[in-house]
Amino acid sequence: MNARSLTEDQYDSAVSLWTATGLTRPWNDPMDDLLRAMSGATSTVLGCSLDGDLVATAMVGHDGHRGWVYYLAVAPDRQESGLGRMMMEASEQWLIERGAVKVQLMIRTNNSPVIGFYDHLGYELSDVQVRAKWLNADDAANTDSAAR
Ligand SMILES: CC(C)(COP(=O)(O)OP(=O)(O)OC[C@H]1O[C@@H](n2cnc3c(N)ncnc32)[C@H](O)[C@@H]1OP(=O)(O)O)[C@@H](O)C(=O)NCCC(=O)NCCS
Repeated sequence: MNARSLTEDQYDSAVSLWTATGLTRPWNDPMDDLLRAMSGATSTVLGCSLDGDLVATAMVGHDGHRGWVYYLAVAPDRQESGLGRMMMEASEQWLIERGAVKVQLMIRTNNSPVIGFYDHLGYELSDVQVRAKWLNADDAANTDSAAR
């Protein structure tokens, strides 16, 4: 098992995986997010394939200071077999190789089941408040923007 940046033929599978694992929201086009991450100089989407199927993803990037992980997903029938840990470790390694010193992530408040997972991997609760503002007037009409 290893993780590498997605190839174009895997993009649709990644979006299907994000849908199957409850990571998408109606107001946020996941393919736009994927294309933005894949075309950025400081971001990518890592994927892991088993038997020809994309079974796990993690979007990873850095802002020159901190690294971020989004869209961590493991196919429902492959969960609890170490893939989530492997994708997080691959994301951390990707960031280390690019000089990032810290990695952060956001968990939607209604996604409490994953808190134990991140705790177990050493991700501490930060004493910060995340604030967000839409930069596009059309998007601003939507709600629940923080976890985008
Ligand atoms: C969260 C998710 C990626 C975890 O993937 P996974 O492949 O099932 O996790 P792993 O099997 O790699 O688990 C890694 C370790 O965490 C532990 N763990 C997993 N879930 C846990 C939990 N809720 N509480 C405590 N420990 C947990 C495992 O026991 C394992 O421990 P070990 O490596 O010491 O044996 C997966 O459940 C998922 O895709 N969820 C839906 C999408 C999602 O919510 N993504 C996160 C968005 S913020």
